Amino acid sequence: MTNIGSYHERVRDFNWNIAEKELGYNPGDTINIGWYCSDRICRMGLSDRIALYHEGFSGEERKYTFNDLRLATNTIGSFLRDLGIVPEDRVCLFMDRIPELYFSFIAGLKIGAIVQPLFSAFGDESLFVRLENAGTRAIITQRKHLAKVRKIADRLPGLEHIIIVDHRGDKELLKGEKAFSLTEATPVEEIEIFPARADSPSVLHYTSGTTGQPKGVRHVHYSLISQYLTTKWVLDLRDDDIYWCTADPGWVTGTSYGIIGPWSMGVTQCVLDSGFSADAWYRFIEKYRITMWYSAPTAIRSLMKAGDEVVKKYDLTSLRHLASVGEPLNAEAVIWSEKVYGLPFLDTYWQTETGSIMISNFPGMKIKPGSMGKPFPGIEGVVLDPKTFTPITEPGKVGLIAFKPGWPAMMTTYWNNPEKYSEKFVNGWYLAGDRAYLDNEEYYWFIGRDDDVINTGGHLVSPFEVESALLEHEAVSESAVVAKPDEVNMEVVKAFITLKPGYTPNDDLELEIMNFIRKKLSSLAMPQEIEYMDSLPKTRSGKIMRRLLHAREWGEEIGDTSTLDDE
Ligand code: PRX
Repeated sequence: MTNIGSYHERVRDFNWNIAEKELGYNPGDTINIGWYCSDRICRMGLSDRIALYHEGFSGEERKYTFNDLRLATNTIGSFLRDLGIVPEDRVCLFMDRIPELYFSFIAGLKIGAIVQPLFSAFGDESLFVRLENAGTRAIITQRKHLAKVRKIADRLPGLEHIIIVDHRGDKELLKGEKAFSLTEATPVEEIEIFPARADSPSVLHYTSGTTGQPKGVRHVHYSLISQYLTTKWVLDLRDDDIYWCTADPGWVTGTSYGIIGPWSMGVTQCVLDSGFSADAWYRFIEKYRITMWYSAPTAIRSLMKAGDEVVKKYDLTSLRHLASVGEPLNAEAVIWSEKVYGLPFLDTYWQTETGSIMISNFPGMKIKPGSMGKPFPGIEGVVLDPKTFTPITEPGKVGLIAFKPGWPAMMTTYWNNPEKYSEKFVNGWYLAGDRAYLDNEEYYWFIGRDDDVINTGGHLVSPFEVESALLEHEAVSESAVVAKPDEVNMEVVKAFITLKPGYTPNDDLELEIMNFIRKKLSSLAMPQEIEYMDSLPKTRSGKIMRRLLHAREWGEEIGDTSTLDDE
């Protein structure tokens, strides 16, 4: 028996108050995600249940009960409050997947701060634009990332506090820097929980668009309602599960389903803070007897590449349910996982903006490998005609994925960017920015994005951000950045550049430019290939024709280039 039971009955009888009732929330009450994920679980008598099994990059293990989680988050919350952090201050988390990252997330929510998690592999420029846009007041980080923060701190007058969770006493701290050690701090038994309302802001996640700087997607505490119920019905988590979400909380999957979903259900989760290898991942599943595994297509394709033999070295019989998110999950990957693990990976589709799973393959439902499945109960999804923005009823016809706004985890704005936010709505529909078609049984089939954003291994990269960073290199005169096909990551970044007079194309320069981007932005945004050109193709008005270069990379018909003019 699955948690969802019959999908059709759930759709027919659906009301979000199912989740509200299960969580004991009445409309108008306070609803603080931080409290729900820690204190409430303890009150339910689960204080001694393990909340987190953690394995660090050098193999050290730690485990924390829900009571440890409650105390650790109280302690960090009080520390932040004592520093003067008040509700709605933006507090950035810039850490690897260490326990303090997970605890600081809950702690920030408990005191009403807006938590801004950022991927710790970001370079200084990626970090700067996100902190500047958010007007961030405090950043919690590790020694190893301090140099990046120091490099930009002077340009961020609003950044008052830089908190280092693993500071060594012999090193000097600069202005605004504070040491905090969870192991040395006195545990705080009780703190006053910020009485968040349904529409109180909670989390700020940055996501990349085609043009302009990254957008800060603002969520609210009421998002818990959809995150809880989707975790229960799609990820099918149960009381005795040991859950592993492989995503980093720098991205939305790592918070909605790597923190909030499982902990609001009181479920034990595992975190592995080290890089990918098939052996390391299988060993981890075997060691902790993981039952539910939520991962991403790039990882699954890498596991496929590692082959079937390595699977046999480990006991993976604990697994009972697998799901995937972030990019198209090819039919072959679904079929392969069924063959080697005896379980198919079930595809789920959603976005930073949606905050929770929108379309998915539900446990117990007929699976069509390659399809994203069907909308979550209560979610009205459609495919819109790109010209008229009216729903397409014809099976097989490609259009724009759109949803009727109003589900609990939906973003409430883009930070400081209400114009971009309103552009996401047409005719009363929220436009996801992706293309798909429906088949004759109303299953969704993903076609591609409706913009130039590059999805590399499930991470969105803005061509604009990479192009802007390239122009800061002394040798680069012009740049155009597009996706290039890749077997494992589906897409990787490719840059076309023209050089300034006095520079000649060569391999050393290519490497130097790649590294320049890696340091400034991140390894994800680093072009995997740079092609030198004498001039870049442009429209009559002088705009670079990115689409033409994209079509060339993908071996697509370019057609009449005059139609690309000024797009
Ligand atoms: O293009 C879609 C793709 O990832 C985008 C959302 O990225 P992000 O906001 O970073 O959130 C990622 C994790 C929730 C979507 O607009 N995407 C996500 N899931 C799928 C997908 N593309 C195809 N199939 C999916 N299952």
